[in-house]
Amino acid sequence: MLQLKDVRKVYEGKARVVALDGVTLSIGAGEMVAVMGPSGSGKSTLLNLVGGLDVPTAGALLVAGEDLARKSEEERSLFRRTHVSYVFQAYHLMPTLSAAQNVELPLHLAGRPEGEARERALKTLGEVGLSGRTTHLPDELSGGERQRVAIARALVTGAPLLLADEPTGNLDTAKGEEILQLLKSIHEARGTTIVMVTHDQHAAAACERVVKFRDGRVVEDSRG
Ligand SMILES: Nc1ncnc2c1ncn2[C@@H]1O[C@H](COP(=O)(O)OP(=O)(O)OP(=O)(O)O)[C@@H](O)[C@H]1O
Ligand SMILES: [Mg+2]
Repeated sequence: MLQLKDVRKVYEGKARVVALDGVTLSIGAGEMVAVMGPSGSGKSTLLNLVGGLDVPTAGALLVAGEDLARKSEEERSLFRRTHVSYVFQAYHLMPTLSAAQNVELPLHLAGRPEGEARERALKTLGEVGLSGRTTHLPDELSGGERQRVAIARALVTGAPLLLADEPTGNLDTAKGEEILQLLKSIHEARGTTIVMVTHDQHAAAACERVVKFRDGRVVEDSRG
């Protein structure tokens, strides 16, 4: 699913930062991998590249067979809509839209008909255990429930790759555990490839493989 070969990412700004310094990493379809490492070690940069939000400075980057390093901005945007979904620490829900409307959004963007979008959104909210909250606004939901809506939104398009950046970072231990189990059950039921950045040892233990970064390099790659 993912193949990185000697990937470098250098941010040329006020201060030049080498965020990824020669990363070679291969992740198979259907794997669930935790990415760990200190702050600033390049974890989010990795997700941005793999998700087609940004391009490497050098090196080869293949995701789902597509050569992302060579794609235009427009091609990458299409790639993102069809192949990748994201779950963030801070949920990133639209505050004025209901849970169901938030989940429908990627289907509208993909041009699916209204009725189909609604039906699939409600079904997916059911899968994450939120059938009783479909008309609530994000403000009217708990943190764990908001993250479930974000996960439903990520799942609704059927994208084969799910990228999660500290999905349990804002939740207490019990709620975080529920979200982890939900991700794991999705991974098992749908075969979704999941790459999850986490600082939490316990969250990492739920994954089949842990890749550790330091200073923009992979320093450890272990299977549990
Ligand atoms: N857009 C950017 N422009 C310039 N430098 C950046 C940019 N994004 C990230 N960096 C730098 O690149 C390095 C890696 O950042 P990254 O966000 O990948 O770290 P991280 O491992 O996700 O850290 P954290 O655990 O704190 O989220 C950091 O030193 C950061 O300051
Ligand atoms: Mg980060």
